Amino acid sequence: MSNKTDIVIFGGTGDLSERKLIPALFRAHQEGSLDEDSRIIITTRQPVALENYFEELNSKLENYLAGEDVFSRSGWESFKTRILPILLDVSCDGDQWQELANILNAQAEHHRVYYLAIPPDMFSVCCRLLSEHGLCNGNSRVVVEKPLGYDEASAEAINEDISRFFPENNIYRIDHYLGKETVQNLLALRFANQIFAQLWDGRAIDHVQISISETVGLEGRVSFYDEVGALRDMVQNHLLQLLCLVAMEPPNKLDANSIRTEKIKVLEALRPIKTEDMGQRTVRGQYVAGQQNNEMVPGYLEELENGSDTETFVALKCFIDNWRWSEVPFYLRTGKRLKQRCAEIVIQFKTTPHRVYAESAGNIDPNRLVIRLQEEELIELSITSKNMQSIGVELEPVKLNLNYNKPHGDAYMRLLIDVIANDPALFIHRDEIRAAWRWIDPIINGWSRNKQSPHLYRAGSWGPEAANELIQRDGRDWFNAGENQ
Ligand code: BG6
Repeated sequence: MSNKTDIVIFGGTGDLSERKLIPALFRAHQEGSLDEDSRIIITTRQPVALENYFEELNSKLENYLAGEDVFSRSGWESFKTRILPILLDVSCDGDQWQELANILNAQAEHHRVYYLAIPPDMFSVCCRLLSEHGLCNGNSRVVVEKPLGYDEASAEAINEDISRFFPENNIYRIDHYLGKETVQNLLALRFANQIFAQLWDGRAIDHVQISISETVGLEGRVSFYDEVGALRDMVQNHLLQLLCLVAMEPPNKLDANSIRTEKIKVLEALRPIKTEDMGQRTVRGQYVAGQQNNEMVPGYLEELENGSDTETFVALKCFIDNWRWSEVPFYLRTGKRLKQRCAEIVIQFKTTPHRVYAESAGNIDPNRLVIRLQEEELIELSITSKNMQSIGVELEPVKLNLNYNKPHGDAYMRLLIDVIANDPALFIHRDEIRAAWRWIDPIINGWSRNKQSPHLYRAGSWGPEAANELIQRDGRDWFNAGENQ
């Protein structure tokens, strides 16, 4: 089947487009994943002089791709021929839309990918105008980014609006975490290896930790972030998606429907956190000034230049009420301005049922499987071994390490290629969004009912002390990359 595709980026001169999408398309171009006739149409709200536009885009691209071995002058020259910037104010119907229609209709057999890199309150008008200009057909797909809504009701309203113009199969809701290579590898680890399949439940596993720690602060997204906070920005989507992949039952096949069906079952089995349990099972945090990488960085309120109760850190203790995971805690944690940038899943196994070694042999640490998505990508299994240098019976922890020390694929590139290939397996179904909000909304409401203010933590730390207490109450500890190895 032909993959000749026209990719239209609405909001084409915005941050998402220039920082993520265009570099991802450039990578795809360089590795030969775009059909040679495919075009990239970039909408801008301000008239641009072509010469300047391309010059600026060239230098931004070079900058964003710095450190990768992918940018070349000749690559840019050929990539540039695919790009058509056009003046279009999405919300105003008129000649500009007609011009877009003319461009697309000139290659009517091309598939169409509409990437809505615009605020969600413009999705509806954009889809309606696409439809009114006859630009939605069976070969047209629309791609939308998080945040999809602010709560269940607003997410439903957005999804309802889009669904008036595109069938569910043609709506691609992106969660870029699902495009990360190690996340794919988690599926391989679980569903292509019998040894783990037998151990993947509450009989062998003590608990699971999923952490995404960031070192960055607001990065100029002040008003957006303050409205949203860490729970909506990171947990509702990225962390819950990772949790689904760890916890779901093996799908019948690796296609979109089978995977989504299993993920939805996990989301629906998440035990609601009651208002009276908020203090025990949730922690909100907000950073104050501190030292990060030997540099003093300002606190959240200083970056914001305003007072605010928004959380920049969340820790949660969750349970999945089904046969496999009954009473196995899943600890989730994410925050800005933490000590290290890291995203990882830790599967902590139980201790051996009976100790046969004398005390003098040393500790028998329980096995632990670490799946790290970033900064480095690795899968590491800690086991206990005999110290081979010692004649006596001495035990020591050792690590079986799969360290993927190779250039890794880019999440956006991977996902864009999947959209072009019409493969929605790594995208989010409307029902998943609904189920995730249904679990998140009561937490937000509980916090507000309890007037649960954020605990303060120093920038450059691992978060508020209350987050340590949350897990230490259970006799466990957070696994902090590079520290408690
Ligand atoms: C985005 C959030 O979805 O993910 C950002 O809106 C966050 O606040 C980013 O910084 C983290 O993504 P990554 O891939 O850099 O871990």
